[in-house]
Amino acid sequence: MYGGGYLFEKTSPDLLKEEDQEKLAAFEARIDRGEKIEPHDWMPKLYRQQLIRMIEQHAHSEIIGALPEGTWITRAPGFKRKLGLMAKVQDEVGHAQLLYSAAETLGKSREQMIDDLINGRSKYSNIFNYPAYTWADSCFISWLVDAGAIVNQVANSKGSYGPYCRALERICIEESFHLKFGHHCVTYLATGTPRQRQMMQEALNRWWYPMLMFFGPPDKISAHTEILMRWKVKILSNDETRQQWLDMYVPKIWELGLTIPDDKLRKNEETGKWEFTQPDWEEFKQVINGNGPCNKERLAVRRMAEKRGEWVRRAILVKASNKKYVTPLA
Ligand code: COA
Repeated sequence: MYGGGYLFEKTSPDLLKEEDQEKLAAFEARIDRGEKIEPHDWMPKLYRQQLIRMIEQHAHSEIIGALPEGTWITRAPGFKRKLGLMAKVQDEVGHAQLLYSAAETLGKSREQMIDDLINGRSKYSNIFNYPAYTWADSCFISWLVDAGAIVNQVANSKGSYGPYCRALERICIEESFHLKFGHHCVTYLATGTPRQRQMMQEALNRWWYPMLMFFGPPDKISAHTEILMRWKVKILSNDETRQQWLDMYVPKIWELGLTIPDDKLRKNEETGKWEFTQPDWEEFKQVINGNGPCNKERLAVRRMAEKRGEWVRRAILVKASNKKYVTPLA
């Protein structure tokens, strides 16, 4: 457990000392007025760096997030669920494309981002480094992980950087379909036979603490929240999104007769806040730094996909004038 220190090196506002102070003040005034910042507008270096870091990590999470669910497409029970899951996984990969495009407007190429992902230089969401052993694990992701993503992204879609906000608006609309699909799948298991209920309960037990970590470390040890909220890149803090998700989904989980694996979980009616057992933040640090249960496997699959797709990219990028390689869609 972390004492008082930050989880990573804290982003220091001192980095802004070298910026043109007049431009910085005008930039911040625009943000305070609720204006959107667009790619060709002036922005502090730190704003650009932070956005690239966050959007890129988000894009990678969508790509890697497709893997645990993707393995369940052929094994999903029934044709309709196979179709639903296939559409969902396809959407997630599409979200990554929207996000990579948004990050590219800030000056980092897609090739560099993918290279950083497959070589372990970039982070992606902790949660996708855990295994989806059963169909119920896949159902948990579809419902409750996507619900967490929606809480975070609906808030951030009201943020300051135009291209990211527009991508998030579109993503959230598609995510709301995923949420319905996931809720249907979890409800079916949770109200099914004793074996189905047990399977869903076991999945909930496995995913509960990684899910609490999904929203990021507590505000008091979060490295970037302060600067990101000052610039309205993040609209809610990590603790606020975690609380919002607990508020919306704990009652729904209880309604299904499932047991949340935390005796201390309760809503403090005086403060209006949920109290819960903290997840193991040391485990979190290990997982996001490449040492989780599935990190190596996830990156190995991405490296393989990158290699296998190389000829397709080469064929598409070849000059249209070279008729020999023109694709059917060209
Ligand atoms: N998984 C992996 N890494 C995480 C994480 C998570 N759930 N939460 C935090 N981290 C990492 C941060 O990236 C940062 O590492 P870095 O400095 O090497 O980049 C470090 O932990 C400290 O966290 P914090 O200061 O709180 O980071 P943050 O202010 O960027 O907040 C998020 C973390 C995830 C809340 C924020 O980046 C975010 O809202 N991202 C966009 C949405 C997204 O990516 N969702 C996940 C997939 S749907």
